[in-house]
Amino acid sequence: MSSIIPGRAVVTGASSGIGAVYADRLATRGHALLIVARRGDRLDALAARLRAQYGADVTTLVADLETSAGLAEVEAAVGNGQLSILVNNAGAGGLGSLAAVSADALERTIKLNIVALTRLSHAALARFREQGAGTLVNIASVMALAPSPSGAVYSGSKAYVLNFTRSLAFEYADTAVRVQAVMPGPIRTEFFTSQGLSDSIFPDSSFISADQLVDAALAGLDAGETVTIPSLENLATWDTIETARKAFMAEIGSGAVASRYRVG
Ligand SMILES: NC(=O)c1ccc[n+]([C@@H]2O[C@H](COP(=O)([O-])OP(=O)(O)OC[C@H]3O[C@@H](n4cnc5c(N)ncnc54)[C@H](OP(=O)(O)O)[C@@H]3O)[C@@H](O)[C@H]2O)c1
Repeated sequence: MSSIIPGRAVVTGASSGIGAVYADRLATRGHALLIVARRGDRLDALAARLRAQYGADVTTLVADLETSAGLAEVEAAVGNGQLSILVNNAGAGGLGSLAAVSADALERTIKLNIVALTRLSHAALARFREQGAGTLVNIASVMALAPSPSGAVYSGSKAYVLNFTRSLAFEYADTAVRVQAVMPGPIRTEFFTSQGLSDSIFPDSSFISADQLVDAALAGLDAGETVTIPSLENLATWDTIETARKAFMAEIGSGAVASRYRVG
């Protein structure tokens, strides 16, 4: 049973991988769709399939979310008219040691993974407040919890997505606005190959498919989760992290400098 209100869904990064599967699943749930990415041919092909297969009402929007103009166009579309769900999925890795990546490339990753996701979330939440309901799904990553020597900006950006989205979930806890952070582990998509990387930076056995990821994420959303980690079997592991985080927050209010730093 879907927990998403009926109406228009917006999915960014729908030209491949996880975003394309979200578009498919939301079409099967009866949503009209606005699908966004840079590769218009891919969007057109997906839109044609969804129309033919499900009779879905699909609009495509070619936009580069790393540019101010592209982002403004999508922001306006998100804020224009009834909106049931926004899936902020578009994201890139910018992987490599910091020294090996140009400062401009790092900035582009931040614009896509952080700035675009933030502005689109802001626009969607304004719609949801007017409507009294709506669903925001932000695609983070397990890398949010994994500082990484070859992914400083990626890991940092996904930590932002996780904390940003969880903070919003707290803000909207007592409303009909739903907020979910999804934390994929390794997913078999074009994510690695499109950046010239082999999938083999992760063991073959650690991958799940984009279909498995999205079906699990939607099951988590329908179950009312604010954080969904599809590859994590043992929820107690997440609970342990949460318990430690709460203990940490309780302890840092001690009003004293830790004894190991006291001089003399
Ligand atoms: N695959 C994994 O192992 C994995 C793990 C954890 C989290 N994730 C996250 O999952 C999300 C989707 O990734 P994926 O695995 O499905 O990878 P993917 O197949 O490479 O898809 C990325 C999507 O983002 C779009 N995109 C990239 N740059 C864009 C830009 N500047 N403007 C607009 N759209 C842009 C791409 O479309 P165009 O190129 O056509 O613009 C594509 O549709 C990302 O946020 C990623 O960080 C993936």
